[in-house]
Amino acid sequence: MTNIAAVSPKHPIALITGASAGIGLEFAKRLAERHYDLILTARRRDRLDELATRLRAEHGGIRVEVIVADLADPAAPEAIAAEVRRLEIDVDLLVNNAGFGTHGRFETLPPERERGEIAVNVAALVALTHAFLPGMLERGHGGVINVASTAAFQPVPYMAVYAATKAFVRSFSEALHEEVSVRGVRVLALCPGPTATEFFDTNVAAPRGPIRTVRDVVTSGLRAYDAGAPVVIDGLSNQVLIAFANLIPRRWATRIAGKIMHPGKATDAGEPLQR
Ligand SMILES: NC(=O)c1ccc[n+]([C@@H]2O[C@H](COP(=O)([O-])OP(=O)(O)OC[C@H]3O[C@@H](n4cnc5c(N)ncnc54)[C@H](OP(=O)(O)O)[C@@H]3O)[C@@H](O)[C@H]2O)c1
Repeated sequence: MTNIAAVSPKHPIALITGASAGIGLEFAKRLAERHYDLILTARRRDRLDELATRLRAEHGGIRVEVIVADLADPAAPEAIAAEVRRLEIDVDLLVNNAGFGTHGRFETLPPERERGEIAVNVAALVALTHAFLPGMLERGHGGVINVASTAAFQPVPYMAVYAATKAFVRSFSEALHEEVSVRGVRVLALCPGPTATEFFDTNVAAPRGPIRTVRDVVTSGLRAYDAGAPVVIDGLSNQVLIAFANLIPRRWATRIAGKIMHPGKATDAGEPLQR
């Protein structure tokens, strides 16, 4: 049995969900630059293996483990935790990043897809936090970065379930931050707006307005995490939009979001793209 802590005692260890693409992949690169050992998880093994090989080569001395899991499966978080226990790894930083969004008239979206969205975006995030937070509290250090969204700040018609999952993530993270920060553990809700990733390759409407890079988003996240903040909105334009939405009555903000997100003819057909 291998004990990462014994192999490289000075390296903190991060577990990143959704590390095969987008924001999660960027977290993996940036944490490797910070000399973290990494546990990468997602469904696409080929991508995770390729990334692990690259990071080991580029950052000699770091250790990278791959755990393949489908977080829509309710048993997946415990399976990940069991594998981490088997490897005798203490996770110092949990990045709950995996997630996806559905777009369209609620009644046209496949119910199993919506259930999967809640399972990945919410249930798995809570279960993984449950699995790894107690160890951090025992050791008196460490933290959790939960990737929420600017959609966490108001209801979003035609992405009703997605926005509700992200409102959950934000509220959960802020509350937990208050519970554990006095005991040396950080919890951050990272709220990106539209960001150039594969997110929009699934069945999400193409973004309008300024689009941020994964580098921008992860820079904001790590800066806020270092500062011990409970929540951060990535980018000035997103911060201004949220400030505006907070100034006007919530019903107006919801109506404006509904006009922007209206699915039009493509999704009215009820055939969202599937990965
Ligand atoms: N891009 C944006 O505009 C934006 C804005 C706000 C918030 N966010 C949030 O940012 C996070 C990362 O998204 P992204 O933009 O980087 O999208 P992405 O490029 O599509 O990456 C999503 C990641 O989540 C993983 N994932 C999806 N479903 C999964 C499942 N059932 N089980 C395990 N892993 C799963 C994917 O891996 P596999 O497919 O290999 O499993 C992939 O690594 C999400 O929580 C998203 O809601 C994104």
